[in-house]
Amino acid sequence: MMSDTKNEMKQQVQQFWNNQACGTQFTDKEKYSKEYFEDIEDLRYRQEPEIFSFAQFTRFRDKKLLEVGVGAGTDFLQWARAGAVVYGIDLTPEAVEHVHHRLSLYGLKAEEIKVADSENIPFPDNFFDIVYSWGVIHHTPDTPKAMREIIRVCKPGGTCKVMIYHRHSLLSYFFWIKYALLKGKPWMSLSKVLWNHMESIGTKAYTIKEVHQMLKMNTIENLKIQPVLTYYDKMTRFNKLFRLCAKLVANLFGYNKVGWFLTIEFNKK
Ligand SMILES: C[S@@+](CC[C@H](N)C(=O)[O-])C[C@H]1O[C@@H](n2cnc3c(N)ncnc32)[C@H](O)[C@@H]1O
Repeated sequence: MMSDTKNEMKQQVQQFWNNQACGTQFTDKEKYSKEYFEDIEDLRYRQEPEIFSFAQFTRFRDKKLLEVGVGAGTDFLQWARAGAVVYGIDLTPEAVEHVHHRLSLYGLKAEEIKVADSENIPFPDNFFDIVYSWGVIHHTPDTPKAMREIIRVCKPGGTCKVMIYHRHSLLSYFFWIKYALLKGKPWMSLSKVLWNHMESIGTKAYTIKEVHQMLKMNTIENLKIQPVLTYYDKMTRFNKLFRLCAKLVANLFGYNKVGWFLTIEFNKK
C-alpha cells in the first residue's frame, strides 16, 4: 500500500499537470486547433532538439512502443508518424485528451492511450519492444518503482529510453542561487530547492551514480547514461552576460557533464 504522504503528493502532481499539460503554456492559439499543436511542436524542438538524437523516432517502425507520461503528445505524434504501434499513458486526463485530439487532427491512430500511473503500468510483463519516457518519472514519488515498471513491461532484448533530471547541472545551481542563496538560505540543499521550486512539488534530480544504483538490481545490459547541456542550462532566455557566464562555466566543467537532462538508454536482458 502506498503511504498517505506519497498518495497526497501524487495527487498534487496530478493536479499540477492536469491544470495545464506540459508545454502548452507558450501558445495563445485556440486550444486543440492545428495552429495550437504546431506552435507547441515548433517550440519544443527548438528548445529541446536533443530529443531527436536520443529518441530516434524513425528507427522503430512496426515496433510496439509505450510512452510513459505523454504530456501534450508531441513526441507521441512523432512515434505515430514514424509508424510505430503506439501505446501511451499519463497520470492526467488532460494529457490523454490532448493526445486524442492531436492524433485525430493528423489522421493517426494509437493502439491505446489511457490515464495510468508509471508506478503501476497497466500492461503485462515483456509486452513492448520499446519503452520511452521523457521528463516524467522524476515527478512521481517512487521513481525507482517507475523505473522497475518500465523494465518489467519491456520485452527481453527490447529498448528502454528514459530522460530524468540531472542534479549537478547548471540549471540546478541556478535554481539554488535564486531560491536558496539569494533568499539568505545557503544551507538549503539542491534537492530541497528542486523539490519545492521545479515544476510540480516533489520533483527530484539524480546524479549518474544514483542512476547506476537505481538500475543495479535489474536485468539490463548496454547501459548508456549521458547528461546533455540544454537550452535551459545555457540561460538562452537571459541577457548576454548570463549566457556568457553559463557558457564559461559549462566549458570549465566539461560542457555536457553539467547538463540538466540525463538521458538513460539500455536493453532488457
Ligand atoms: C514535464 S511533463 C513531460 C511530458 C512529456 N513527456 C513531454 O516531454 O512533454 C511531465 C508529465 O509526467 C506526467 N506524470 C507525472 N507523474 C506521473 C506518473 N506517476 N505516471 C504517469 N505520468 C506521470 C505528468 O502528468 C506530465 O504529463
